[in-house]
Amino acid sequence: MTTRTKIKDVLKGNLIDQTVNVKGWVRTFRNNSFIAINDGSSINNIQAVVNFENTNPDTLKRITPGACVGVTGKLVASQGKGQTVEIIVSDIEIYGDAESDVTKPNSYPLQPKAHSLEFLREIAHLRFRTNTFGAIFRVRHTLAYAIHKFFNEKGFVYMHTPIITSSDAEGAGEMFRVSTLDPKNPPLTETGEIDYKQDFFGKSTNLTVSGQLEGELAAMAFSDVYTFGPTFRAENSNTARHLAEFWMIEPEMAFYDLKDNMALAEEMLKYVITYALDKNKEDIEFLSQRLLDEEKNKPQTERSELNLLEKLNFCLGNEFAKITYTEAIDILRESNHNKKKKFQYIIEGWGADLQSEHERYLVEKHFKKPVILTDYPKDIKSFYMRMNDDGKTVAAMDILFPGIGEIIGGSQREERLEKLESRMKDMHIPTEEMSWYLDTRRFGACPHAGFGLGFERLVLFVTGMTNIRDVIAFPRTPNNCEF
Ligand code: 4AD
Ligand code: MG
Repeated sequence: MTTRTKIKDVLKGNLIDQTVNVKGWVRTFRNNSFIAINDGSSINNIQAVVNFENTNPDTLKRITPGACVGVTGKLVASQGKGQTVEIIVSDIEIYGDAESDVTKPNSYPLQPKAHSLEFLREIAHLRFRTNTFGAIFRVRHTLAYAIHKFFNEKGFVYMHTPIITSSDAEGAGEMFRVSTLDPKNPPLTETGEIDYKQDFFGKSTNLTVSGQLEGELAAMAFSDVYTFGPTFRAENSNTARHLAEFWMIEPEMAFYDLKDNMALAEEMLKYVITYALDKNKEDIEFLSQRLLDEEKNKPQTERSELNLLEKLNFCLGNEFAKITYTEAIDILRESNHNKKKKFQYIIEGWGADLQSEHERYLVEKHFKKPVILTDYPKDIKSFYMRMNDDGKTVAAMDILFPGIGEIIGGSQREERLEKLESRMKDMHIPTEEMSWYLDTRRFGACPHAGFGLGFERLVLFVTGMTNIRDVIAFPRTPNNCEF
């Protein structure tokens, strides 16, 4: 028996004239002769040629889009267009049928034609078998691997921070509760509130919104750590950039200030994008072409000036712009866009929170490259960010990307116990319950900094997709938790 070879390796062509065996799913079957098979190892299919006169007619009938087959035969140079090698089939095995007659119930929904992304979202369990989603999820894999590789090479320790917590790291109150109490009949306190003392953990608990606080504890021992895990936010924003469950990478570094933090973030982003461009060249070229085809339907003025490959290379070739929040507000206030009231939220003055339309204006119209915004007003940022000497701003940084807006949020942390405590009190964050966090400031505190990269936003950027639901396997968004 011939051992199975992955299609990616067969396509390399060095097995020519040898008998090979491939297994995969039928994409198309033309003229009762040419099967296009894909096993997910490559965007490219292998063509397998069957001799219909020598093949059992019942078997031929079962070679339909979606069916799972194994073929054995000699690998030869291809005569036809579109492929360099093909398999002359001597033996075929059907592992699983797929009904192709669309008039029958339970027919295979992925027929060989273009399907809309919206339709494919409804069949997310099958969309992996399309070219587009095959490419996206191979790129996603490479990016995840590249992130671990980057931090490993720098001597960072990967920390697995908890998914169930009792704290709200961002202090924004956007948490999913975790409870085993009977919702119909919960135990009550004397004052009539739900008694979480009787809940599973003896207190009120939720899914984590960030691993940062636990990451900080570990950084105070290992110096450099990172987390890479699922994160949950119950923010009811049904946008193309928000998920209720997303993956976040959060490095935390002792002895780093804001400048070091920015430099690490820029280096990391460039490293992982370069790695994906190298390892997933064919996938990214396919996605780039896909985007061009999609843009053909748009009016000239709305088409992007750069194609996906150019956009990625442009990001690699340029130093990110670095400006303060205060400078950004000046740019935005003076912009024609603001004066002509083209923003939905007009920038009146200092202190305004930036909306994604403002972030994208700065990146796409003004600087035309990634931008790092620093030193935000303290009132629009989290409690743990280090207070600047002006007493008004904190050492925060947001990295803004074209087409995405905020891709990274981070800061230097407030390491001074008194300042941190007073800030927490101002923001009504219970200091007693967070005593474990404050201990890092009591025992051997040091300047430190870190950031959070939204993994799906990175995948959006590298694949050129526009909806975040298309870059995570099974998206969780308001009113949507299928699969
Ligand atoms: O800016 P955020 O809220 O920062 C933090 O959570 C910090 N604790 C990070 C740190 O300093 N360690 O979130 C970080 C990033 C955002 O820039 C964005 O890319 C992504 O996480 N993000 C989301 N991605 C998808 N869906 C959502 N609902 C997201 N919320 C944040
Ligand atoms: Mg943020």
